[in-house]
Amino acid sequence: MAGQTRMLFRHVDEPGLASIDTYRRLGGYRALEKALRDIDPDELLSSLEDSGLRGRGGAGFSMGKKASFLPRGDMEKFLCCNADESEPGAFKDRELMSKNPHQLIEGIVIAAVAAGIGQAFVFIRGEYWEVADILDRAVEEAYAAGYVGENILDTGHRVELVVHRGAGAYICGEETALLDALEGKRGNPRLKPPFPAIQGLYGGPTLINNVETLSNVPHIVKNGSDWFKGFGTEQSPGTKVVSVSGCVQRPGNYEIELGIPSREIIYGLAGGPPEGHEVKAWFPGGSSAPVLTADELDLPYSFESMADAGSMLGSGSIIVADENVSIPHLALRTARFYHHESCGKCTPCREGTNWTVKMLERVISGEATPMDLDVISSVQDNIIGNCLCVLGDSMAMPVGSMVAKFRHEFEAAIEAGRDAAPRPLDESPTDVKPVPVGAAG
Ligand SMILES: Cc1cc2nc3c(=O)[nH]c(=O)nc-3n(C[C@H](O)[C@H](O)[C@H](O)COP(=O)(O)O)c2cc1C
Ligand code: SF4
Repeated sequence: MAGQTRMLFRHVDEPGLASIDTYRRLGGYRALEKALRDIDPDELLSSLEDSGLRGRGGAGFSMGKKASFLPRGDMEKFLCCNADESEPGAFKDRELMSKNPHQLIEGIVIAAVAAGIGQAFVFIRGEYWEVADILDRAVEEAYAAGYVGENILDTGHRVELVVHRGAGAYICGEETALLDALEGKRGNPRLKPPFPAIQGLYGGPTLINNVETLSNVPHIVKNGSDWFKGFGTEQSPGTKVVSVSGCVQRPGNYEIELGIPSREIIYGLAGGPPEGHEVKAWFPGGSSAPVLTADELDLPYSFESMADAGSMLGSGSIIVADENVSIPHLALRTARFYHHESCGKCTPCREGTNWTVKMLERVISGEATPMDLDVISSVQDNIIGNCLCVLGDSMAMPVGSMVAKFRHEFEAAIEAGRDAAPRPLDESPTDVKPVPVGAAG
């Protein structure tokens, strides 16, 4: 696949890759053997830290550093692989797990050995039941081959692994809500600190990492941290599996070297918008990322470059909107999603998402005034940084940025809504033509 740099997806098209025999034939589980037989766990941990691997689930925190926060000693420690993947626009973990489940299992066991963890879980989104079946089969094979369980490969290391299916709530992807859900409670975020590395699952030290983060681990161990740092940028080493969706001709997952121009992903790999259309807006890190414009398409796709542009790389889901997409409708759809998924535990998110939905509905139905746009912006500003978890911010950042960068569309929507016959609020954003500024009234 021209334009891609395939590390995690290297053998993705190999028939039967999900089986242990094929995975082993292609070199699988050699990194685990090396980790167990030739490398001391402390050294293993240092090499993960030295690789600079950053979390691929959203926050981009150093994987090795997080693992090093777990206390040493004989207490029961846990690893939770976050496979909840419920953010609109994200679908990379699904492919990583369904096509190459052993790569993930190998990564989980190595990471567990490095951090002295004996019990691991994969918390998988409930709707991914087919993927969970594939994982269950792979875990069974790995147990039978002695790569998981008591006394792995006769080295005395123990790592048990259980696949746990979620019940379909986006909030359970937030790491502390995930812990509550795994403990059998309602999945509500916990107050931090204490952080999970100190007090997580069942009160024990817990390492929580995303599917893609852990799938990188065997490659780092097999080839070394310097090799890994040879890909990507200094602050964003490695590759990234990017899910591209929206107004593009070839939506899908692409593995790219971090730091390549974003245009190469959107136009080169995903084919850009359909013939005759242009990118108007794009979200570089899923529905929770602040919006970027067509002028920002040449920015390098890396954690630091997206942050410098006022947005974020997040989980690496690029959503593209062309000129036919109504930004006010997109903002409403985004706000409705987060309002629906808010757990209601803290006021700024519970009330703020509700208010935002109501006000955006007023914008579209023509009941608002341009001053209400300032109120919407101020509500977003008051949500950001004031919530118990970042779900509230996940709505406020994109909605606030859409109002700031596309205010003329909101003003035009107010004008048009005031004069026109009521338009269904549920109308799909892609079906709705934007109203040119000044066209109404
Ligand atoms: C509302 C919400 C949903 C989240 N959903 C996911 C998810 O589905 N998968 C994931 O890996 N991280 C998700 N995260 C981020 C996790 O809290 C956590 O940062 C991540 O699993 C850590 O793994 P990493 O360091 O490997 O990225 C979510 C965060 C929030 C606030
Ligand atoms: S920010 Fe929202 S989802 Fe997170 S704890 Fe508060 S109410 Fe719940």
